Amino acid sequence: MNAEWWKTTVVYQVYPRSFQDSDGDGIGDLRGMIGRLDYLKELGIGAIWLSPVYKSPNDDNGYDISDYRDIMTEFGTMDDMEELIREAAARGIKIVMDLVVNHTSDEHPWFIESRESKDNDYRDYYIWRDPVNGEAPNSLRSIFSGSAWQYDEPSGQYYLHLFSKKQPDLNWENPNVRQEVWDMMNFWLEKGVGGFRMDVIDLVGKVPDEEITGNGPKLHDYLQEMHRETFGKYDVMTVGETWGATPEIAKLYSDPKRKELSMVFQFEHIGLDQQEGKEKWDWKALPVGELKRVLSKWQTALGDEGWNSLFWNNHDLPRIVSRWGNDKELRVESAKMFAILLHLMKGTPYIYQGEEIGMTNCPVSDIAEVSDIESLNMYRERLEAGYSKEEIIISINAKGRDNARTPMQWDASENAGFSTGRPWLRVNPNYTEINVAADLADPDSVFHCYRRLIELRKLNPIVAWGDYELVEDVPEQVFMYVRRYEGLAWVVAANFGASQSTVEIPRFGDSGEVIIDNYGRSVVDFSHLVLRPYEALAVRLLRE
Ligand code: GLC
Repeated sequence: MNAEWWKTTVVYQVYPRSFQDSDGDGIGDLRGMIGRLDYLKELGIGAIWLSPVYKSPNDDNGYDISDYRDIMTEFGTMDDMEELIREAAARGIKIVMDLVVNHTSDEHPWFIESRESKDNDYRDYYIWRDPVNGEAPNSLRSIFSGSAWQYDEPSGQYYLHLFSKKQPDLNWENPNVRQEVWDMMNFWLEKGVGGFRMDVIDLVGKVPDEEITGNGPKLHDYLQEMHRETFGKYDVMTVGETWGATPEIAKLYSDPKRKELSMVFQFEHIGLDQQEGKEKWDWKALPVGELKRVLSKWQTALGDEGWNSLFWNNHDLPRIVSRWGNDKELRVESAKMFAILLHLMKGTPYIYQGEEIGMTNCPVSDIAEVSDIESLNMYRERLEAGYSKEEIIISINAKGRDNARTPMQWDASENAGFSTGRPWLRVNPNYTEINVAADLADPDSVFHCYRRLIELRKLNPIVAWGDYELVEDVPEQVFMYVRRYEGLAWVVAANFGASQSTVEIPRFGDSGEVIIDNYGRSVVDFSHLVLRPYEALAVRLLRE
């Protein structure tokens, strides 16, 4: 068993725009983050996945980069960035950069050149095609709605953009493009970053003419080349955003023998409330049985040939407590339930800012309140397709990305302590009740549950390394599993239902002790355990 640091750590994702503003412009920044490092140290995390901080015109909040070697003006300077890396390191925290190299901004100098003319040296850095019968080259669609091809009048050709038209796709077939990416990664590695989170990395091997986007034929060659040319000689973690990965595909990315990435970040469990063959906006109730099956499959299928991330949230997903829990009277209980269930599994857990205090979705009543480009484009497209405004707003409130992007709720003061100016996105009005200060002061808070779970992972090898087995013979709404390691066994049970459920704990010895739970329980009846709504607990089984 190889104990790389990233297999035993917990990662915290910071969305810098919404984390902490230090200069009153209403936009979070690096100096704000530096001031909050002690808080993150107290939580116990070992790495920060930092959403993009590079120069960007912000068509997609930094996921459209115009200079990979400079910092976004609103966020600060390169000196601030270096200080952040140093100050984090002083607290045992590594900074993992978001690597967005499937595409750049259309304002990146490479694209400005590329657009100049068909014979420009940079033309082939991007993907240009002639029209077919006066129209787009094929029917590839943008993930942000509409055609993935944008016509460019002066040269009479189309360029490919799998996201917004201000995010043209780089042409990875061009070795010069790859070399530019390797050089840029080495620039950051030399600054001492702790690794990279690779944005939509599954797309870089695309074959646009065959309408192949994800998992293209050369994807893994490129990643092996990347490993050789950049981080192979550093002790860093690399995590690929790998939509649509199966366990077999995940092994291609993350089997250490193949020298590609440390781990995958895949979404199979997160898509379970989406209607078959439809878009994320078309949801259905979560099938809990399916969730158990999918998460358990990922627990056992990788063996020693791969590594997976554990998460409920990120900057693209709605808040889990609103999505699959109860964000009203059982908010604290259900937030803790999701934490306990996930953090005692095998894999590297990720916490998205605000999750550790049980932050909730933030509904809107009108499209004028929406900032996210994905929601705005979908709104336009669905209006044209005949949907009503009301039903589109319902979809945005359920799945829109702004839900996760409202400012971090630090305390009950104006703007939740996020900024002294007007925040770029409205603060969730529930900040007076749900905030970090309140959670720090309450030993039974969601924060302290997360802190304790991180500590349990550090102190007990069973959490990182133990075998996993799903307990099958329980009611549908109960998710129960056993971890085993060197003669020890822990049982974790979580009730996804809004009503109580009775289960029997698998026999091991005759007694056990509660390690962590969300209802303040101290005794467990092994043969007749009544789980209250959203109750979760972990029990260490003791041999007589
Ligand atoms: C990833 C990011 C998302 C971004 C997209 C394009 O999915 O997580 O926020 O919009 O890639 O870069």
